[in-house]
Amino acid sequence: MQIDIFTLFPDAFSWFERQRHVSNAVDTGVRLDYVNYRDHTPLSAGQVDDTPFGGGAGMVLRVDAVEAALRARYDADPVEVARTRRVIALTPSGRLLDDALVTELAGEPALTVLSGRYEGFDERILEHFATDQMSIGRYVLAGGELAAMVLCDAVLRKLPGALGDHRSALEESFSEALGGAPEYPHYTRPAEYRGWRVPDVLLSGHHAQIQEWRLEQSRRRAAQEHPKDGSD
Ligand code: 6GU
Repeated sequence: MQIDIFTLFPDAFSWFERQRHVSNAVDTGVRLDYVNYRDHTPLSAGQVDDTPFGGGAGMVLRVDAVEAALRARYDADPVEVARTRRVIALTPSGRLLDDALVTELAGEPALTVLSGRYEGFDERILEHFATDQMSIGRYVLAGGELAAMVLCDAVLRKLPGALGDHRSALEESFSEALGGAPEYPHYTRPAEYRGWRVPDVLLSGHHAQIQEWRLEQSRRRAAQEHPKDGSD
C-alpha cells in the first residue's frame, strides 16, 4: 500500500512514524510519503490560503495551491488522479471513520490524504479533486494532521505484519468477528489484587468456555453501550 499525505506540517508525523506498527508496516513494504502544499504553491511567499469570499472568520485552503501540489506529486490533472485512487479530504463534517470504513481503506492499493488547516478547503477541492470526505468525530480540530494520523494508524494496523500478533486485529472491538460489538474485558497477573479477582473462567484453561464467556461479555457491552450516543 502506498499512502501520500498532503499537509502543511509534515514534521508533525515524525512521532507517528516511530510507532511500532507503523514502522513494521513500512518495513513490510507500505510507503508513507508527505507532500507539503507550501513547496508547490504557484503563489508568492508560500501562500496557500486566503480569506473567504462573502466574508467571515478564518482562512480557506486555495484550490490552485492544492492542484499544484497534486500535480507535482502525480504529474497529472488532479481530476484524473481522483479516477485512479481514493483521494480523501479530511474534514470535520465528512463521513465518520469506523471499523468498516477502515477495513475498506486497508484493501486499497493507494490512498491520498488531504489534510487541511484554517476554516477548511475551498469547496472546489472537495468537489473535483477528492473522492471522499472523512471525519474522525463530531468536533473540530485545528487541523487535519491528527485526523490523518488517526486514519493511518487504524488502517495500517489492519495490514498483515503491522502487529506483532496478527490475531490482535481479528477479534477486537467493532470487528466482524465480534459482530461489530465492543471487545470483551482483558485481565493479566496478578489474579487477585486488593481483593479484586479475575473471573474464574479465565483461569480455568477451558478454551471453549473462555470463548463463550468473552462473546457473552462483548454482547452485553454492545447492549448497554452509551445510551446517549444517539445511534439508537
Ligand atoms: Cl478530519 N479535520 C478537522 N479539522 N477536524 C476534525 C476532523 C477532521 N474530524 C473531526 N474533527
